Amino acid sequence: MLHSDFQRRRSQLLSKIAGGTAIFNAAPQAVMHNDVEYNFRQDSAFYYLTGFNETDAVAVFAPHHDEHQYILFVQPKDRAKETWSGYRVGVDAAKEHYGADMVYPIAELDQHLPKYLEKADKLYYHFGIDQAFNDRILNHYRSGVRQYDRRGTGPLSIADPMAVMSALRLHKSDYELSQMRQAVAIAAEAHNLAIQKRKPGLYEYELQAEMEMIFRQHGAIGPAYPSIVASGANSCILHYVENDRQMQDGELLLIDAGCSVNYYNSDITRTYPVGDRFSPEQRILYELVLKAQLAAIDKIKPGNPWNEFDDTAVRVISEGLIELGLIVGELDTVIKDKLYKPFFMHGTGHWLGLDVHDVGGRKTGDLWHTFAPNQVITAEPGIYIRSDFEPLEGQPMVPDRWLGIGIRIEDDILVTPDGNEVLTAAVPKAIEFLER
Ligand code: GLY
Ligand code: MN
Ligand code: MN
Repeated sequence: MLHSDFQRRRSQLLSKIAGGTAIFNAAPQAVMHNDVEYNFRQDSAFYYLTGFNETDAVAVFAPHHDEHQYILFVQPKDRAKETWSGYRVGVDAAKEHYGADMVYPIAELDQHLPKYLEKADKLYYHFGIDQAFNDRILNHYRSGVRQYDRRGTGPLSIADPMAVMSALRLHKSDYELSQMRQAVAIAAEAHNLAIQKRKPGLYEYELQAEMEMIFRQHGAIGPAYPSIVASGANSCILHYVENDRQMQDGELLLIDAGCSVNYYNSDITRTYPVGDRFSPEQRILYELVLKAQLAAIDKIKPGNPWNEFDDTAVRVISEGLIELGLIVGELDTVIKDKLYKPFFMHGTGHWLGLDVHDVGGRKTGDLWHTFAPNQVITAEPGIYIRSDFEPLEGQPMVPDRWLGIGIRIEDDILVTPDGNEVLTAAVPKAIEFLER
């Protein structure tokens, strides 16, 4: 953990919220079954600002308060509970190690919150899935509003901190990039192992296990999302996670797997033959997806708007599918009427960071965001033709030889001052390196 990064983020937040007070709730502890819990994963916004890794915690930012601008509420030390559920940082150590101006036990939240709200002109709060906590914060807000007439101060509106947080999180610091490069390097090694080891007769979960072993062996927390190891027609299911099928010669294998290092993620997809060679149809579609991906990546440079990146992949794929006779129509109509959607139904990419689908936004009003250095985005066009493909009205049925082919190629791209860097370049995607 790099304290200076967390400190800088907090100062940026404090200056952006100016006269307001912001409240962030830690993630709840998710239950697996009965009294067994999942490994804890902190809420990304909470982690971004605090670096604090426990549930049942609240962070308050009050730039206008005389004494405390950054306040933490945490679980107190409790020997008996810690014996069962693991160490807690506790109130004293939280103050010492996490940079808060004041730390209270979480049980005292209702008691202390009013004094950090009474001078604020606005409350920044994201209404999350914890309804009880939402209600609690609303009650504080309402009681402040009731006292406004008398006091003449206090928040009269609630704003979601999302816009402020997105703008901060979109630009990765050197520390963040080092974590992401590590997550990329580990996942790249895992993908390269899968490329070597894949062969007809293996079960999808066998490759999943090999890859996830590499994640843990190198100290990653684990997968960044449930690993997708999809052979044959499973490759057409975007979030296929069963991974329980035996792969056959002649099929494609699509693996979408990344890992998480100190909460920072990688997200990589490669598609290649289960056996040694692509079939003619697989090869044609693979080359088309690769062409679309390379053209889209070319658009990732400072000053270029997001939609140009997305539109480029759509245009190349649409053009190719028209040429193959799989879509009928003029290119511009195919794009305008989204006739490519039955084949390419997801976006070309997303921001990547603490969340796999990271915050950052694509548009403000009608204005597309433009790329800027130190942003990280995935580039992941695909073509998917389900075995039970259904053409749109007026479009032809796809001949049988194309059915059951799903292809995605996904890289993680850093925007640099001059253009971009493909962080995931260590995993091959040219056909000559995927065939044997
Ligand atoms: N693995 C999730 C995604 O590619 O967006
Ligand atoms: Mn992705
Ligand atoms: Mn992915």
